[in-house]
Amino acid sequence: MAIYTILKMGNPLLRETALEFSKEEILHEDTNELLADIWETLDFAGGIGLAAPQIGVSKQLAVIKLSEDSDRYPDMETTEPYVIFNPRVSVLDKELQGFWEGCLSVPGLRGYVERPRKVKIDYLDENAEERTIEVEDFLATVFQHELDHLIGMLYVDRMEDVSTLMFEDEMVLQEVSEEEILD
Ligand code: NI
Repeated sequence: MAIYTILKMGNPLLRETALEFSKEEILHEDTNELLADIWETLDFAGGIGLAAPQIGVSKQLAVIKLSEDSDRYPDMETTEPYVIFNPRVSVLDKELQGFWEGCLSVPGLRGYVERPRKVKIDYLDENAEERTIEVEDFLATVFQHELDHLIGMLYVDRMEDVSTLMFEDEMVLQEVSEEEILD
């Protein structure tokens, strides 16, 4: 296992469209190792999601886990760990909801982003089996943020008003609600 350096905004790898996995690749030992490394890197960084391009692997893989012991998001609900290969996102409810988003590839900053409040994701799991999940509210934003990394997009690209971009320490000073934050 290994902890990777997380690439930061400005690195061109974060702007590429990631390649799909074949089912054989998903089941390959190398992918198991990659997955273990991604989880370890995410745990170390203390985030709630990480996509392969963020560690320099331009492939369609992302993981998400909301855990109670997250340092960055102490009041969050807990979810099962999600392993997502080759996702396809469909919007189920176009009504927009806004959260203050953060990103391990954009350290120290938060920005207000509005996204559809309910989406469906078709994807392959770690056993290369087809799965569908419907997510709404906060989790819908988490999934959309994370899966955007697989098409070369960062949350700053989704901001309607870039003037809301702010440093985390300034948010504390301005008493912006911590409940509306994610990574
Ligand atoms: Ni991110």
